[in-house]
Amino acid sequence: MLLIKNVKIINANGENPSAQDILIEDGKIVKIAKAIDPKGAQVIDGAGKNILPGFVDLHVHLREPGREDKETIETGSRAAAKGGFTSIFAMPNTSPAIDTAQEVEFVLERAKKAGLVHVYPVGAITKNRDGAQLTEMMDLKRAGCLAVTDDGKSVMNAGLMRRALEYADMAGLVVMQHCQDPTLTGPGVMNEGYHSTLLGLKGDPTLAETVIIARDIELACYLKTRIHFMHVSCARSVDLIRAAKKQGIGVTAEATPHHFSLTDEAVKSFDTATKVAPPLRAKEDVEAIKAGLKDGTIDCIATDHAPHTHEDKEVEFDIAPPGLIGLETAFGLAMKELVIPGVLTLPQVVEKLSAAPARIVGLSDKGQIAEGKDADLVIVDVDKEWIVKREDFVSKSKNSPFVGWKLKGRVLTTISAGKVVYQEQHA
Ligand code: DOR
Repeated sequence: MLLIKNVKIINANGENPSAQDILIEDGKIVKIAKAIDPKGAQVIDGAGKNILPGFVDLHVHLREPGREDKETIETGSRAAAKGGFTSIFAMPNTSPAIDTAQEVEFVLERAKKAGLVHVYPVGAITKNRDGAQLTEMMDLKRAGCLAVTDDGKSVMNAGLMRRALEYADMAGLVVMQHCQDPTLTGPGVMNEGYHSTLLGLKGDPTLAETVIIARDIELACYLKTRIHFMHVSCARSVDLIRAAKKQGIGVTAEATPHHFSLTDEAVKSFDTATKVAPPLRAKEDVEAIKAGLKDGTIDCIATDHAPHTHEDKEVEFDIAPPGLIGLETAFGLAMKELVIPGVLTLPQVVEKLSAAPARIVGLSDKGQIAEGKDADLVIVDVDKEWIVKREDFVSKSKNSPFVGWKLKGRVLTTISAGKVVYQEQHA
């Protein structure tokens, strides 16, 4: 039994006006009331702190199997717990790819062994993510998948994508699309625009993203199925998704903290941690992402946590692999870029980090603090300032463009399935 005392509860639908006690038993929230008798329970003092439903990240790269030098299911789960995430969705671009029930079972078994947060393996749409042959989606579902994606690549063949949407719909799987047409991205290594011209780096146009989004909206409209757009990065994509939603088409979308915190100007440092796919975009795109988060066009925040080793990243910008780590800085960035400037309220951040992502994948016992729901919780101090330091990352990789940034809003304690999985160490 765990009892959190005198803590202010923040749900997506608002704040509880006064502090409450939360009693946890067998991984569930069993009682929320004032002054619960602590008899027999481990007690956590929540006075002066806020408690939020544990964050749910639909987009995480754990690199296991295949690149355990970058991250493992255990180290990624630790990074998630430190960032306040209690459920993470593991991308299938591993080696081998997560494209059969066997690989799904492997990830689940490793996650269980780590015993930290809930890890949901996301299966591939096509075998080996080659874009040629569909995976056995019913098998993936039976093995424990809630979603499928070829993340890192778009499914380019429209006919195959149609079949993927139809089969996934039958299997009860959410299809998540990485939107980048490689014939338009070409050799681009950063956003095509003013800064790519200035820096002499090859550009990747927003068009590479929007043509896939436009095509997939048409597919979802015609087939009356759902689709989730991953790491939406530009203004035109937000416009397309907004219009699709107005017409009742079944689309949802995520944005990453880096796409609402940084513009392509950051690339002028030539820091390879600013190289990411899709790339950091122009100022007007960043503004549009924020507006999309505010008006509900963008449903949720997902990190696209993409660990890479120092050796892999310490090369010329052109040849560095894309990706940056995001689990440990997501909440602080949401506070800095969204809450403090008044784009979103704290309950709206809970909607984006917890409630909406849980809803998208059908985790009905997560994303909300209420009696009977899962005891996946994060205690935060919204006023606490901290500096992002390379040596403080618990992820195996350190490729963050936010090192040195001052953030306000700190995760203090993370509870997953009723167990404390992260506790801030006092200096
Ligand atoms: O920047 C990225 N890195 N984008 C992706 O889609 C894949 C990811 C990775 O796996 O490193």
